[in-house]
Amino acid sequence: MGKCTEFLYLNEEDMIKAGVLDTAHCIDVEEEIFKLLSKGDYVMGGDGHNSHGIALTFPKESEFPNMPLDGPDRRFLAMPAYLGGRFNVCGVKWYGSNIANHSKGLPRSVLVEVLNDADTGEPLAFMSANLLSSVRTGCVPGVGTRHLARKGAEVCTCIAAGPVGKACFDAIVREASALKEVVIYDIKKEAAEAFAKEAAAKYGIKARAADSMEEAVRAGDIVSVAASAVAKVQLDGEWLKPGSLIIFTGRCWIDEPYFLSAKTIWDNAKMHEEYYSHHLALPEEERFLNGIGVQTYRMIYEKKLPPLSEAVSLGDVITGTGEGRTSDEERICFITSGMPVWDVGWGFEVYQKAKEMGIGQTLKLWDSPYWS
Ligand SMILES: NC(=O)c1ccc[n+]([C@@H]2O[C@H](COP(=O)([O-])OP(=O)(O)OC[C@H]3O[C@@H](n4cnc5c(N)ncnc54)[C@H](O)[C@@H]3O)[C@@H](O)[C@H]2O)c1
Repeated sequence: MGKCTEFLYLNEEDMIKAGVLDTAHCIDVEEEIFKLLSKGDYVMGGDGHNSHGIALTFPKESEFPNMPLDGPDRRFLAMPAYLGGRFNVCGVKWYGSNIANHSKGLPRSVLVEVLNDADTGEPLAFMSANLLSSVRTGCVPGVGTRHLARKGAEVCTCIAAGPVGKACFDAIVREASALKEVVIYDIKKEAAEAFAKEAAAKYGIKARAADSMEEAVRAGDIVSVAASAVAKVQLDGEWLKPGSLIIFTGRCWIDEPYFLSAKTIWDNAKMHEEYYSHHLALPEEERFLNGIGVQTYRMIYEKKLPPLSEAVSLGDVITGTGEGRTSDEERICFITSGMPVWDVGWGFEVYQKAKEMGIGQTLKLWDSPYWS
C-alpha cells in the first residue's frame, strides 16, 4: 500500500486571511532570506544554480493564428528554487504576463505557486500568488531601505503607480521612519493622483502626483522605480540628490556618469552574473537591451565598472561581509530583479500560518499512487 498525498489549496481570499499582506513581517522574513543567500544556502535553476527562471516569449509574427505574439511585458515564466535554513522547501512560481490584461479587468500578470517537500517532491500547497508576488517584490526595497537609505530620508519618489510600485512604497514607508512625503510620477497622471490620494489616507503623510519624471526624481531621498515596459524610464544622474538611494525594481536607465560616482548594490550578484553570461551569448546588437540593470552590464562589459564577481549583494551588507552605505552624501543604486527564493520563502511562511489557522482546502493527489 503506497502513501496518501494531500496538499493545501489556498485561493486569494485564503492567502489574505493567512497574512500574505503582512508587509512588516515579510520584510523581516526577507532579511532572513538575504542572510541565507549570502551564506549560499539556496539553489535556483540552471547549471549555475542562480537562474531567475525560464521564460516563454513569443515571436513578433507567426503563421499560426492562435499563437500569442510578442508585446510589452508579454511572457510566461517558471521560477523554481530551493530555500534552506528553517525553510528547507522547494517551490515554483509560474505566471503569464500581458499588458492587454488590464482592458479585460485582469492584473497584468496572473500568478500561482506550488510548494514541494524538498525530500520527496510531494506537493505541500498550491496557492494564488498575485498578492504573494507583489508583497515579496515590494518588501525587497523595504529591506534595501532598512540597510541602505540615509537615516533622516524625508521624501520618497515613486516612479509608477501600479501594484508593484504600491507594494514597494508600502514597505519603504515602514522602514524610512522620518518620511514626510511621497511624490508619484506615472505616465498615466490619473493613476499617480489616485495613488497619492490612497497614500495620504493610508499613511497620514503628504502625497502628490508630479507633472514630470524630473520633478519627481529631484524631490526624492529614496526613489523607487517600478514601471512596466510600455515607456522607457530614462533619468539624468544630476536629478538624484547627494545621499539618495534609488531602487530599481523595474527597468531604469541613468546616464553613465551616475554609475561612475555612485555605489551599486545588487539583490544577488551571482544571479546577475548568470544573466550577464546569457547576454554575452546573444548577438552583439541584441545584448544588454532588456532587463533590470542591463545598463550596468554593458558598462561592465566595456570595463567602465568592475566585474560582477567583485560586486556587493545586499545579503553581504546585512551579514557584514560587504560594504554598504559609508556616508550621508553617498548615492546608492540598489538593483533588484526578483528571485524565486522570495516567493518560496514568503509562500512557505504564509502556508505554515494557513495550516496553523485551519485555512484553505485540502486536496488529494492520490490515496495511494497507481504506480510506485
Ligand atoms: N524586480 C522584481 O522582483 C519584480 C517583480 C514583479 C514585477 N516587476 C516589474 O514591475 C513592473 C510593474 O509591475 P506592475 O504589476 O505594477 O505593472 P502594471 O502594468 O500593473 O503597472 C505599471 C505602471 O507603470 C506605469 N509606467 C509605465 N512606463 C512608465 C514610465 N516610463 N514612467 C512612469 N510610469 C510608467 C504604467 O502607467 C502603470 O501604471 C513590471 O513591469 C515588472 O517588470 C519586478
